[in-house]
Amino acid sequence: MRFIVILALSILFVLSKADPLVTECSSNINYTGHTEFESNLRLLLNDLSSNTSRDTSLGGFYSTSVGENPNIVHGQTLCRGDVNSTVCRNCIENACDHLWNTCKSQDATVWYEFCQVRYSFQILVPMQVFTGKFPESNEQQKFVEHPVLFEKVLMHLMHNLSNEAAFNASKQMFATGQIKFSDKETVYGLLQCTRDISGGECNNCFQSAFSELTECCSKRRGGIVVSKNCNVRFELHQFYNDSSTSLLSYPFPKGAKWKIWELILVTSASVLLGVIIIWSCIVYLRPANRRQRDDISEPSLLQELASSAVETITQEGTLVTSEELPLMDLSTIKAATDNFAESNKLGQGGFEIVYKGVLPDGKEVAVKRLSKKSGQGLEELKNEVKLIVKLQHRNLVRLLGCGTEGEEKILLYEFMPNRSLDIFIFDLERRSHLNWETYYNIIGGIARGLLYLHEDLRLKIIHRDLKPSNVLLDHEMVAKISDFGMARMFCENQNTNYNTKRVAGTYGYMAPEYAMEGIFSIKSDVFSFGVILLEIISGKKNSGFYLTKKAQTLLAYAWQLWKEGKELEFVDPVLIESSSRPTEEIKRCIHIGLLCVQEDPADRPTMSAVVVFLKGSESVSLSEPRQPAFAVARAAVPNIGENK
Ligand SMILES: *[C@@H]1O[C@H](CO)[C@@H](O)[C@H](O)[C@H]1NC(C)=O
Ligand SMILES: *[C@@H]1O[C@H](CO)[C@@H](O)[C@H](O)[C@H]1NC(C)=O
Ligand SMILES: *[C@@H]1O[C@H](CO)[C@@H](O)[C@H](O)[C@H]1NC(C)=O
Ligand SMILES: *[C@@H]1O[C@H](CO)[C@@H](O)[C@H](O)[C@H]1NC(C)=O
Ligand SMILES: *[C@@H]1O[C@H](CO)[C@@H](O)[C@H](O)[C@H]1NC(C)=O
Ligand SMILES: *[C@@H]1O[C@H](CO)[C@@H](O)[C@H](O)[C@H]1NC(C)=O
Repeated sequence: MRFIVILALSILFVLSKADPLVTECSSNINYTGHTEFESNLRLLLNDLSSNTSRDTSLGGFYSTSVGENPNIVHGQTLCRGDVNSTVCRNCIENACDHLWNTCKSQDATVWYEFCQVRYSFQILVPMQVFTGKFPESNEQQKFVEHPVLFEKVLMHLMHNLSNEAAFNASKQMFATGQIKFSDKETVYGLLQCTRDISGGECNNCFQSAFSELTECCSKRRGGIVVSKNCNVRFELHQFYNDSSTSLLSYPFPKGAKWKIWELILVTSASVLLGVIIIWSCIVYLRPANRRQRDDISEPSLLQELASSAVETITQEGTLVTSEELPLMDLSTIKAATDNFAESNKLGQGGFEIVYKGVLPDGKEVAVKRLSKKSGQGLEELKNEVKLIVKLQHRNLVRLLGCGTEGEEKILLYEFMPNRSLDIFIFDLERRSHLNWETYYNIIGGIARGLLYLHEDLRLKIIHRDLKPSNVLLDHEMVAKISDFGMARMFCENQNTNYNTKRVAGTYGYMAPEYAMEGIFSIKSDVFSFGVILLEIISGKKNSGFYLTKKAQTLLAYAWQLWKEGKELEFVDPVLIESSSRPTEEIKRCIHIGLLCVQEDPADRPTMSAVVVFLKGSESVSLSEPRQPAFAVARAAVPNIGENK
C-alpha cells in the first residue's frame, strides 16, 4: 500500500532543503500524448513561483488554472507561513521543476520543507487527500524519555495551536508555538492549512493529522505529517522564525515530582487495566442468563468512566493514559445541534439518531442520541462506552465524550465528513468519485481495524455487525469502523466459539453459522469483511442481489465467474477504468473475498492473513477457494429483523 511504502522509505530519509519530503504522482492517467494538457501544464508550472511570491498579501497561497476544458490544469501552491518571498519562490521553482521531471501523471503533489505544489486535471477538492508522515532523520527519531507525559504535552500544544490556526482569521491558517516539556527541553510545533478550505474543515484535517502524528511520532523527538490540505510538525528545537508564535505552558503537577507522578499513573493504570480484564472475563464467562441481570445503572457507569483517567491500549500493547472522557452538559449538546434540529440529522439507526453538532470551540462532532425508551439502547450504550473508550486505532472511530440526563443518553464521536462507505459504493454517481486506489486503501483500513480488534489487544473483540454503513470515512477517506453496540469482548484464552440466543446483526453480512445457529467467532467478522470486499468490487449489494437474476446471490455470482476464469466480469467497469494498477490486484481482492466467505469458518483466513494477502507479496500464495456460503439457496436464512 502506498501509504506504508512511503513511511518505510521515510525512515531512511534525512531532511535536506533541496529534496522533496514526498512526491505523489497520484493519478493513473499518463498525459504523454495529450499535447495540449502538457503545454498547459508547462505554462502553469512556469508561472507558479513568480505569481505566488509576487503578491505578498497572498501569504504564499495561490490557486489558479490554465487552459480550457477538457485540457484545463488546476494548480495550487502553499508556502510555509514563516518563510519570506525569496525562500517561497525558490522552493516553488524547485518543486515545479521536480514535478515536471518526475511526474507524467495528470494529478500530482509534492511537499518540501518550505512549500507544497499540487496540480490536477480535476478541480482541487479537499476530499481525496493523502497523508504521509516523516520523522525528520535517523538521529531525530530517537525516543523521548517520558513518552506518556510527552504525548500529553505535545497534544496540548497541538490542540491549542489548531484552534488558533483554524479559527483566528488574523493567523491565515498558520500557527506556531512552543511549550516547555522539562527544564532542558521545549517542544516546538507548527501547523498550517491551505486557504481554500473553511476553518471547520481545517480543524478536521488537523484532527486527522494528529491521529497520524500520535501513531507515528508522538514518542519521538520530532515528526511531520503532510497532506494536501494541512501539515503539522514538531521538533525539540526551534525550526521556524515566526514573530507571532505562542508560548504555552502545561499544567504540570508541582515541582520535580512529575516523574514520580508519572510512575504512579502508569502503575495504577496497569493495575486498573488488570482489574478491568479480570472483571470482563468474569462477566463474560458467566452463563448468559446471569449476565442479563448484571445491571449497573447507566449514569453511574458513565460517571465512573468520565471521572477516572481512562487507560487505553496502543497497538504495541503498552499503556497510555488518554484524555479523560469528557462528560458533557446536555445544554451544551443541545446548543451544538440546534436542539436536535432535523436539518442536522445525519442518519438514523434502529436505536438511535445521529446528528451533526458544532461545539462552542468550533469542533465538529457526530452526536448519537439513543432512543429514550429502548432498554436495548441502554445495553448497547454501556457496551459501546465500555469497549470503545479503551480502543485507539487509526481505523476505529474515536469516542469524544458522552452525556446522560434523565432518559437522554448521548454519545459524541469525531465527525466524519465523508459519512459512510455505503453511500459511496451503492450510489452510481458518488461511486465514480472514488478510484480503485482509494477503495483499495479503504479495504486495507477495514482489515487493519479488524485485525486490531481481533488480535492486537489483550482482549479479543468481535464486532458482530460489520457492514458498509458502519464503516465511516474521514475527510481523507480513511476507513474507520464504528458502532460497537453489538460487539462482544473476550479474554484471549477463552475458547474460540461463542453462542448467543439473541442473534442480532444485519441480513446479508452475517455468517451462516451465526445467522442459523447463533455461533459467532472472529471468523464471523471475517465473513462480513468478505461480503463488504465483494460489494466494493462489484458495486452491488449482497442482499437483494437475486433481483438481478444473474445468480441467486452476489456470492454465488462471484463464485460462478471465478470458476469460469471470468472474474473480471464481476468487477464494476468504473473501477477498472479508474485503476492504473495491474488488474491482478483487483483479481487478488476477489480471491481474498471468496476465501473470507467460505461456508466453513475454518476455511476462512484470519485477519492477519488477510492483511498479508492484501499486500500481495509474490511469496505468499493464496489457497483455492471452494464454493462459498449462500451460493446454493438464499432461503436457508431464518427470518431475522434487520438491525438498521
Ligand atoms: C500569473 O500572473 C499573470 C499576471 O497576473 C497572469 O497573466 C497569468 O495568467 C498568471 N499565471 C497563472 C498560471 O495563473
Ligand atoms: C529571506 O530569508 C532567507 C533565509 O532565511 C535570507 O537569507 C534572506 O536574506 C531573506 N530575504 C529577504 C528579502 O528578507
Ligand atoms: C507514459 O506513456 C508513454 C507512452 O504512452 C510511455 O513512454 C511513458 O513511459 C509513460 N510514462 C509513465 C510515467 O508511465
Ligand atoms: C491556548 O493557550 C493559551 C495560553 O496558555 C490560553 O489562553 C488559551 O485559552 C488556550 N486555548 C485553548 C483552546 O486551549
Ligand atoms: C488572533 O491572533 C492575533 C495575532 O496573533 C492575536 O493578536 C489575537 O489576540 C488572536 N485572537 C484571538 C481571539 O485569539
Ligand atoms: C530563521 O532565521 C535564521 C537567522 O535569521 C536563519 O538562519 C534561518 O534560515 C531562518 N529560518 C527560516 C526557516 O526562515
